[in-house]
Amino acid sequence: MALLPILRYPDPRLHIRATPVAAVDDRIRRLVSDMAETMYEAPGIGLAATQVDVHQRVVVIDVSEDKSALQVFINPEIIEREGEQVCEEGCLSVPGIYEKVARAERVRVRALDVEGKPFELAAEGLLAVCIQHEIDHLDGKVFVEYLSNLKLNRIRTKLAKKARITA
Ligand code: NI
Repeated sequence: MALLPILRYPDPRLHIRATPVAAVDDRIRRLVSDMAETMYEAPGIGLAATQVDVHQRVVVIDVSEDKSALQVFINPEIIEREGEQVCEEGCLSVPGIYEKVARAERVRVRALDVEGKPFELAAEGLLAVCIQHEIDHLDGKVFVEYLSNLKLNRIRTKLAKKARITA
């Protein structure tokens, strides 16, 4: 296993649209375990392959308190969405920024597991938010892009300052 470097907003590679995984093989399983290790180490509750500069449709999530319930979604697709919730979100690619975003309250997602087997899952609350946030990453969208231009510009300035200090 290996820790992978996480791309930071506004890195343009975060806007690449990921392509579907053609075959769930050992290479993908290695990617999944590296992504899980990277997410736990960060620490975060979700990570999309896009964020580690791999542009294939792979997501790992663990919203459990004791980090014991890894969920893997390969080629995830939201097939139903219902209701609305507004949640404060953060992102490993946008460190230190937390903003409210409106999303569906419940989603039904279809994906492949690490064996390449299809499954469906109904999710609500935090897990539903996380699934939508991570699938956005695969589509090249970062959560701050839901905010107003004014807010987004403030965030860009803040992150640029931070990058200068840590560089
Ligand atoms: Ni994120």
